[in-house]
Amino acid sequence: MKKLIAGNWKMHTTLAEARELARGIVQGLGEAPRPEVAVAPPYTALAAVADVLAGTPVHLAAQDVFWEEKGAFTGAISPLMLVDVGCRLVIVGHSERRQHFGETDATVNRKVKAALKAGLAPIVCVGETLAQREEGRTLAVVERQIREGLAELPADAGARLVIAYEPVWAIGTGRTATPAQAQEVHAFIRTLLPGVLGTARVRILYGGSVTPDNAAALLAEPDIDGALVGGASLMAASFLAIIAAA
Ligand code: PGA
Repeated sequence: MKKLIAGNWKMHTTLAEARELARGIVQGLGEAPRPEVAVAPPYTALAAVADVLAGTPVHLAAQDVFWEEKGAFTGAISPLMLVDVGCRLVIVGHSERRQHFGETDATVNRKVKAALKAGLAPIVCVGETLAQREEGRTLAVVERQIREGLAELPADAGARLVIAYEPVWAIGTGRTATPAQAQEVHAFIRTLLPGVLGTARVRILYGGSVTPDNAAALLAEPDIDGALVGGASLMAASFLAIIAAA
């Protein structure tokens, strides 16, 4: 399986900064990067970054999506709008959406279905909080998120869908899961997938304080198929170093 390195820019970058960052990535990448590469700028910069990425191997992704196609949903962005602006992928259920914006496994499921219907590849995020890990509930929490978030998808969903395991305690904290900790959860997720998606051949990314220093060790694990990178994706040099490690 080809690895996927995706940059989640979160609520960062003005238009000028977004164009510059995208240009830096494209210029540093060369024509045939070994892994697949995607960047997820904020909504306001999608069109500008799409222009920079046109004709390059870097895919455009969005950070969230609503499930309706159109209508009176002030502030929301539909899957069709994301396809229209050039997105191939969309992050769904990031822990920050769950924490600050009331995202639940049920809303994740509706968004995943809508994204797939529009032809987008959802990157579905799961992961436990520190309290849940300390209580020994990591696998139970992740299993619930996978079973409910990915319930009743079309039979071919596994071909496009991507999962990102992001322990909440590792996001933006500088505290990365060890390769062994991540591998344990990735392997567990893999065992669930035949029952949930009808196939285990689904990319499972790791996310949470991935840096150029720890990327190679994480990506060497057998069930880690790429990385979802936050902070270190905001500078072309560090994002490119992580891509080079894949
Ligand atoms: P981080 O973010 O790399 O800054 O920890 C990862 C993410 O939230 O996807």
